[in-house]
Amino acid sequence: MQKFVYSYPTKVYFGEGAAADALVREMPKFGKTVLLAYGGGSVKKSGVYDELKQLLLAAGKEIVDFSGIMPNPTYAKAQEGARLVRDRGVDFILAVGGGSVVDCCKVISAQAVLDEDIWRMEYERGQFPTSGVPMGAVVTASGTGAEMNSGAVITYEEKLWKGPIVGNSASFAVLDPAYTATVPPMQVLSGAFDTLSHAMETYLGSSDADNVSDDVALAIMRNTVVNMRRLLKNIDDMQARSNLMWDSAMAENGMLKVGRLTDFQAHQIEHQLGAYTDCNHGQGLAVIHPAYYRHILKDAPEKFTRFAREVFGEETAEGGLSALTAFIEECGLPTKMGQLKSKVEITPEVLRKVADTCNIIKSGPRELSREEIYEILCECL
Ligand code: NZQ
Ligand code: ZN
Repeated sequence: MQKFVYSYPTKVYFGEGAAADALVREMPKFGKTVLLAYGGGSVKKSGVYDELKQLLLAAGKEIVDFSGIMPNPTYAKAQEGARLVRDRGVDFILAVGGGSVVDCCKVISAQAVLDEDIWRMEYERGQFPTSGVPMGAVVTASGTGAEMNSGAVITYEEKLWKGPIVGNSASFAVLDPAYTATVPPMQVLSGAFDTLSHAMETYLGSSDADNVSDDVALAIMRNTVVNMRRLLKNIDDMQARSNLMWDSAMAENGMLKVGRLTDFQAHQIEHQLGAYTDCNHGQGLAVIHPAYYRHILKDAPEKFTRFAREVFGEETAEGGLSALTAFIEECGLPTKMGQLKSKVEITPEVLRKVADTCNIIKSGPRELSREEIYEILCECL
């Protein structure tokens, strides 16, 4: 095991009625003015917005509305939110949505109490925030696990960059599977594939053998695959949605990462693909993973064989990779670049830029060259 410190700042309220439990217990701890932050309107259609608004008003809060946080949230949107928080003297931020809303709010929270630009502080001075306006997260689409960590993934459009910005953590998270009932089926599966990817990427990092975190990661992968298959039979299966919601949180709450290094090369490639195309995160990963794993299969044969056996019941590393590829097709997720919804045509020139600008991971099975990343991306065309 690598040396580690583990401490957990986010209290989780899980299950039916969790929002009422959480807001009644938690809101008295915070000041009067609450930023109610959400995305493009799904929470209004589903009734979640009205329910939360009533709970906040009952707790004696004044609400400042902040809407329109887009999928793949932009740096400009986070700055807009931070300005609003400062101008209106917001005491608490309630993020209501999927990973995009939660991530944007983590940065809003941290930026609102800083005197300097957070991106410059982190990327030019190498310093990270230590405080923020207190916040909570109500998850309406699961998969990223963003509600249980302080890292946000933000698109900085002017810099053609999508990547991590450390923000603030939510002091509590509400995970009520019923709140995900209205998520479109393809987003449900894309989110769940993101969870699977988080566990695979963590597991494939270089670490000592028989690390207990590996056992937990494999259990999360298995459970995610089983429950995605249950959803393929019945997308409204709430037991499956519940399992996936907790798998999602478990995969990104740091638990799987204790005492080990991680890979996350597929994520680095996908994030830059997102910077150029604005594609859906889980779907981008579905396209990239099989090609990336074909390239590194021989660099971690024992790990891939164990993955094959324990997640897909296959005997060999190659069999496991074929099963993963077939599973992506079975889920109806995209397998080629051309199937991704993109704001530009995905050409070899675009992929060259992605390969030239993505982060390269040193703690995966093998460090890739930019040329090889370009090859991997081209294999997905
Ligand atoms: O904007 P609205 O109208 O709310 O619609 C959203 C959005 O269009 C919709 N949605 C959410 N809840 C819904 C719903 N539709 C109907 N009913 C509901 N209950 O779902 C769409 C996608 O939402 P989004 O938040 O973008 O999806 P997701 O949760 O997959 O988040 C993706 C973002 O998280 C980042 C990704 O890069 C991407 O930017 N990630 C964050 C991570 C983290 N912080 O730990 C880790 C991940 O690896 C990932 O990079
Ligand atoms: Zn992800």
